[in-house]
Amino acid sequence: MSVSKRPKLVVGNWKMNGLRRDLAELTAIGEIGTACAPVQVAVAMPSPLIYPAARAAPGLQVGAQDIHPESGGAFTGGVSAAMVRDAGGGFALVGHSERRLSCGETDAIVQAKASAARRDGLSAILCVGEEAAARGQGQAETIVGRQLEASLPSTGDGAWLSIAYEPIWAIGAGHTPTLVEIAAMHAVIRRHCVVRLGEVGRSVRLLYGGSVTGANAGAILGLADVDGVLVGGASLRAATFAPIVRAAIR
Ligand code: PGA
Repeated sequence: MSVSKRPKLVVGNWKMNGLRRDLAELTAIGEIGTACAPVQVAVAMPSPLIYPAARAAPGLQVGAQDIHPESGGAFTGGVSAAMVRDAGGGFALVGHSERRLSCGETDAIVQAKASAARRDGLSAILCVGEEAAARGQGQAETIVGRQLEASLPSTGDGAWLSIAYEPIWAIGAGHTPTLVEIAAMHAVIRRHCVVRLGEVGRSVRLLYGGSVTGANAGAILGLADVDGVLVGGASLRAATFAPIVRAAIR
């Protein structure tokens, strides 16, 4: 992907929500997704829904919320990148804060998962973000910088790698950082990408996540270096996800 062409990417994250009957919500979004090129629309589904979601909404990129770093073996409960691909998935989130916090995922594990995605043909959306206390102490950029240093693979480009900045305190909270704070953090992340990956680091898409809604998506997506959004709660229903997708098209 060339540096100047970073098509907007709108990604839903259903987390541990949804049954097959809920896939009807994706159908309408899939229709918008088919018609809104070059904007890309994707949904990170619970593993059992990857295959049926890919069939129900061909206009969407369907992916996983996590993958195991290994290709296969005695890892009960694990889902490999190859399995996600086989089920019709095209990408995986890695390092979401809910997994970093509740499953003890370290930066090294996150890095291994990103590399596994690439090895087995998936794109990776690598998530970083600070806790409220770090933001309050003026440490947000330092913390995110450290996460990037330890979890970004040593090579990567926008063809398979995106980074999502998700301040933990904004997730599911109903409030977001200010536009100035989001823009500043994205500039920091872009600098890290270029230092780490070289000029090709400019092709990596940077997404913002945390309480994105139809009301705030347009302003956030209008910021420099915000190439997309990662949406949790509002992605579960077409009525709340569609306005966010439309904001990316404008
Ligand atoms: P939220 O979640 O949109 O519900 O805040 C975002 C996320 O965790 O990816």
